[in-house]
Amino acid sequence: MAKLGLNVDHIATVRQARGGIEPDPVTAAALGELAGAEGITIHLREDRRHIQDRDLEIMRQTIKTRLNLEMAATQEMVRVALKIKPEQVTLVPEKRQELTTEGGLDVILNAKLISDTVKRLRDGGIIVSLFVDPNQEQIKAASKSGADYIEIHTGRYAEAPDWKAREYELETIDTAIKLARKVSMGVNAGHGLNYVNIKALAAIGGIEEFNIGHSIISRALLTGLDRAVRDMVELIKYA
Ligand code: PXP
Repeated sequence: MAKLGLNVDHIATVRQARGGIEPDPVTAAALGELAGAEGITIHLREDRRHIQDRDLEIMRQTIKTRLNLEMAATQEMVRVALKIKPEQVTLVPEKRQELTTEGGLDVILNAKLISDTVKRLRDGGIIVSLFVDPNQEQIKAASKSGADYIEIHTGRYAEAPDWKAREYELETIDTAIKLARKVSMGVNAGHGLNYVNIKALAAIGGIEEFNIGHSIISRALLTGLDRAVRDMVELIKYA
């Protein structure tokens, strides 16, 4: 059965909005594990806009499931990964100006950099996954790079404007899963998945782990607001 990898980056986004200590993504990761997430994903970006080195260091010690570190294929990040030793690294493309990861890696164009990075990480005992679009040529290149997994970028599926486009994207993902499995790679998926679009995707099978962040953290804000307001009203009323 497929697993949920909870991405807690946006807990850190809220913390960084004030530059303080709350909410703490370390606590969010622990709560996520207690609720059944089988892995925690964080993206340590070059600009440290949300997750900080401190978060990664503490989570390495406290996470009881699996730590999946998303990162760019840079010398600095490889050094961090080899020091911290997450169970898995997912290599992602990173642009400074983007709001979030905008597309999959170009494994064909960056073949040497990616295969060198994969080798260094694997030699350090880390499982390596490549975040790629559901594209046959990219998956073949991912296989050649020596990576263990692909994570299929589900953005186009998530943003499909109508059911026909969604069906098309679903079929494209299904074909990509079959190819990846044929070349003996494991398959994860993520980006833009939510409480509506997850059902059809989870039903096609073949995906080991879904990495989901934004929709879960968004829902948590709203489902938790009622209790949070009541607690504050009580404090004010009975002071
Ligand atoms: N997988 C990868 C590789 C990502 O970069 C992201 C976004 O950080 C996600 C999954 C999670 O996407 P979302 O926050 O839209 O659920």
